[in-house]
Amino acid sequence: MNFQKKIEGRSPNDSKAESTIVMLPSDANPKGNVFGGIILKHVDLIAGLVAKRHAGHANIVTASIDRMTFLKPIFIGNALILTARINYVKRSSMEIEVNVFAEDLDDNTRVHAATAFVTMIALDKYGKTTEVPSLILESDEEKKRYIEGEKRMITRLKEAGKL
Ligand SMILES: CC(C)(COP(=O)(O)OP(=O)(O)OC[C@H]1O[C@@H](n2cnc3c(N)ncnc32)[C@H](O)[C@@H]1OP(=O)(O)O)[C@@H](O)C(=O)NCCC(=O)NCCS
Repeated sequence: MNFQKKIEGRSPNDSKAESTIVMLPSDANPKGNVFGGIILKHVDLIAGLVAKRHAGHANIVTASIDRMTFLKPIFIGNALILTARINYVKRSSMEIEVNVFAEDLDDNTRVHAATAFVTMIALDKYGKTTEVPSLILESDEEKKRYIEGEKRMITRLKEAGKL
């Protein structure tokens, strides 16, 4: 396993991101449950931000979002909290892991509501895929995430008929 295949690399910590958004009535159904599509929109946005931070001067598009299960409901008035980090880089593709939490602002409790693995692709100014910096992996956890990300990438590319 070659963790540092390119000279110019970036650490996962350089690109990680967190966002907090209060959920409003327009985000939810008439019973107050936040729509899955609203959550997905924020997952896509923060994954794109992390990929852009990592890739620098490139256009970033979403290639795929792995199957996502909503483990807990999120309601109007909750804070939707997303944390996102890059796990794995191939050439132009990057796997970003997004964890979604719902915080009840009345009692300050927080539950893990979902995890998503998003594949982002870097494109150059001509719309062609372009190489992104490698990942500089320092901790054992970062190396573990990379190996697991590589395994998931193989599986998703097989499922997409790309391998
Ligand atoms: C994603 C896209 C650029 C891939 O283009 P393509 O010509 O089919 O891709 P290729 O087979 O040449 O592969 C290019 C890279 O994408 C990766 N890729 C392609 N399909 C993928 C999929 N379903 N899941 C994960 N990665 C994928 C490949 O592994 C490759 O990665 P690498 O450069 O790191 O090796 C193209 O399908 C596209 O533009 N899709 C629309 C994107 C979009 O509009 N998203 C929503 C709005 S941002």
